Amino acid sequence: MEPSGDSFWLSMALPALGLDPWSLLGLFFFQLLLLLLSPLTAESGGQGPMPRVKYYAGDGRRALSFFHKKGLQDFDTLLLSGDENTLYVGAREAILALNIEDPGVPKLRNMIPWPASDQKKSECAFKKSNETQCFNFIRVLVSFNTTHLYACGTFAFSPACTFIGLQDSNLLPISDKVMEGKGQSPFDPAHKNTAVLVDGMLYSGTMNNFLGSEPILMRTLGSQPVLKTDTFLRWLHPDASFVAAIPSTEVVYFFFEETASEFEFFEKLHTSRVARVCKNDVGGEKLLQKKWTTFLKAQLLCTQPGQLPFNVIRHAVLLPADSPSVPHIYAVFTSQWQVDGTRSSAVCAFSLVDIENVFKGKYKELNKETSRWTTYSDSEITPRPGSCSVGPSSDKVLTFMKDHFLMDKQIVGTPLLVKSGVEYTQLAVETAPGLDGHDHLVLYLGTCE
Ligand SMILES: *[C@@H]1O[C@H](CO)[C@@H](O)[C@H](O)[C@H]1NC(C)=O
Ligand SMILES: *[C@@H]1O[C@H](CO)[C@@H](O)[C@H](O)[C@H]1NC(C)=O
Repeated sequence: MEPSGDSFWLSMALPALGLDPWSLLGLFFFQLLLLLLSPLTAESGGQGPMPRVKYYAGDGRRALSFFHKKGLQDFDTLLLSGDENTLYVGAREAILALNIEDPGVPKLRNMIPWPASDQKKSECAFKKSNETQCFNFIRVLVSFNTTHLYACGTFAFSPACTFIGLQDSNLLPISDKVMEGKGQSPFDPAHKNTAVLVDGMLYSGTMNNFLGSEPILMRTLGSQPVLKTDTFLRWLHPDASFVAAIPSTEVVYFFFEETASEFEFFEKLHTSRVARVCKNDVGGEKLLQKKWTTFLKAQLLCTQPGQLPFNVIRHAVLLPADSPSVPHIYAVFTSQWQVDGTRSSAVCAFSLVDIENVFKGKYKELNKETSRWTTYSDSEITPRPGSCSVGPSSDKVLTFMKDHFLMDKQIVGTPLLVKSGVEYTQLAVETAPGLDGHDHLVLYLGTCE
């Protein structure tokens, strides 16, 4: 099956992007690769499968071509409207609404400025030697309800959030009502972050302080209590860097990279993780007040024999499955090590069932005397710590949770593709029927080069 040009792009790319606005970035600013793979066929060795279609930034054959506007830069955050006709773009100090109904160059519907205040800019310039960072970089842009978007930005190292009204898909000017955005947007535009709106609540993973040493996984907005990860208990390593948040039925998964503390031998070994929290978590009553009581994390493993481990996750998406098959998470990884001066990338698939099983398995525990992580193998506590049936007053369970947040088993992915000399940073996936009658997996991969 050969995709045929532009109409293929629009029809193939957009549905997938509804789930994950980030991937649309590829259509605008990135080199994009399209790969058609038979389901779960791993290619062995060096180059891997060749892309069926490969576009460079600005290629005229794309359904949507290059948009630019003088004075605007850092198109960091994308949101596709429900009717797929409008693309909202969070840039540096501005938010744009682009009309993408027709192929070609997106047309600017309207644009609203959202600069950081002069006071915050001068405070930032005083504290940072590099004034290029003292702007409002928009880093969260989600659809809040039928009439409003919700946006957050770095606001010159002083994160801020606001609601933005919509009228006929146009953005209404931002009122003065700008709120504190700590824990939702990073301070530093160089830091990664992720956010997803679920049932009217924003689940965000980002850096929570000026220095960039305190990552947080937080829930805010809506009717449920605001919940955070506990910094003191070190549930996250200080360098944790979030790349995706994916809601499921009962839980929200967060994908991130951090330095691993459970392995010895290495000075600084990066590891990829999935963490999850329960949507019905309300925090503890006596213990873990305003903190997650269901935070658990596990290692994601994407390796192929004969290759260095792909230990740095860059992006992850969910492909919901039609029954009887199981939904899978697809994630793109690079390695912290270079070979011949270049890095390689891999795409791995993780079954949601495997992920859930690891979270139902044994925990790890830090031996405070030896500073080693070991498997915890004591009698069972009920309800099971970390499960979504833990109540706010289960003191015994919550005490256990404080120190048992790392799962013992790793979640092992199936490598679908390994490619040397390229660093993929974004992906989108979907299935498409081939002429052979079988469903094929279509991967859209973007690089930053
Ligand atoms: C300032 O920051 C920008 C963007 O982060 C970077 O490209 C530039 O090299 C920095 N300049 C200095 C003088 O550090
Ligand atoms: C959407 O949310 C905003 C902000 O909370 C609120 O002012 C507005 O009334 C809501 N709109 C609807 C249709 O619920």
